[in-house]
Amino acid sequence: MIVDNKSYKEQIDSFVEAIPELSVTASQVVEICSRIDSTPEELSQVVSEDSVLSEHVLKLVNSAYYSLVSEVTSLTRAITMLGFNTVKSITLSKAVNKAVARLNFPQILPMDGFWRHSISTGVAAGMLSRVKQGSTTQREDFLICGLLHDLGKMAFVESYTEVISLSEHTQITPVEAERELYGFDHQQVGLKIARKWQFNDTIRNCIGFHHEVDRSEEVDKIQTAFLALGDVYANIYDLGYAGNFYPSETELNNLLSLTGVSWAEFRSIGKDIEAEVLKAGVFLQL
Ligand SMILES: [Fe+2]
Ligand SMILES: [Fe+2]
Repeated sequence: MIVDNKSYKEQIDSFVEAIPELSVTASQVVEICSRIDSTPEELSQVVSEDSVLSEHVLKLVNSAYYSLVSEVTSLTRAITMLGFNTVKSITLSKAVNKAVARLNFPQILPMDGFWRHSISTGVAAGMLSRVKQGSTTQREDFLICGLLHDLGKMAFVESYTEVISLSEHTQITPVEAERELYGFDHQQVGLKIARKWQFNDTIRNCIGFHHEVDRSEEVDKIQTAFLALGDVYANIYDLGYAGNFYPSETELNNLLSLTGVSWAEFRSIGKDIEAEVLKAGVFLQL
């Protein structure tokens, strides 16, 4: 069943429209964190305008995760200690949370498993990039990309059952089944959300091309490949569920070669990943 182009466009547009805008605070946090001349005081000023966010920042810096000897009560000090990127990740994850809270999860993709898959993808991508000495900034972005990379699947609502069934019966990937049945795929929807939230090009490429790394902009190709590899990792080792099956050996080998990660390195993150996923859940308060 291929819907006509008009309905296809309408289906995506109404889904993206229903996703809440980023709050003014979140947009300002993203803007401040993207400038090299911004100061902790400036960021603190903006964060303090959102009591829930301020509370979260202080709670995190004082949590067991950071094992501090004395309590931090100043927001500016907390921001200095956590770093701009961490504050940005917390802020954006809250926005993702808000967006997800309004969605109806299809029965075939229950929320818990979907969320665990999303966090695990971001965490695995970050850990694999760390194996290859990726920068801290990139690792923070991976978490956001992980949270958002499959969110577009929600645009299909209950029709996702048909996607999975076609994929299982014809040995094609869910992305191919989405296109075959509905003429669009979840990467395109994710890309529209990333545009709506004015995410940077790297995050857009990661979300928009995680199943077609070769179509990512050249400058972001490696980072997109790491996110795709994190996705594959979560699927192979059953960390959550978002409707995917094992990847083809060709796809896995292609991603390993693009990222320079060896098979042994790929497997090596297994001993720490459960703890890291747990930490990320606490960190993001998901
Ligand atoms: Fe995906
Ligand atoms: Fe995924």
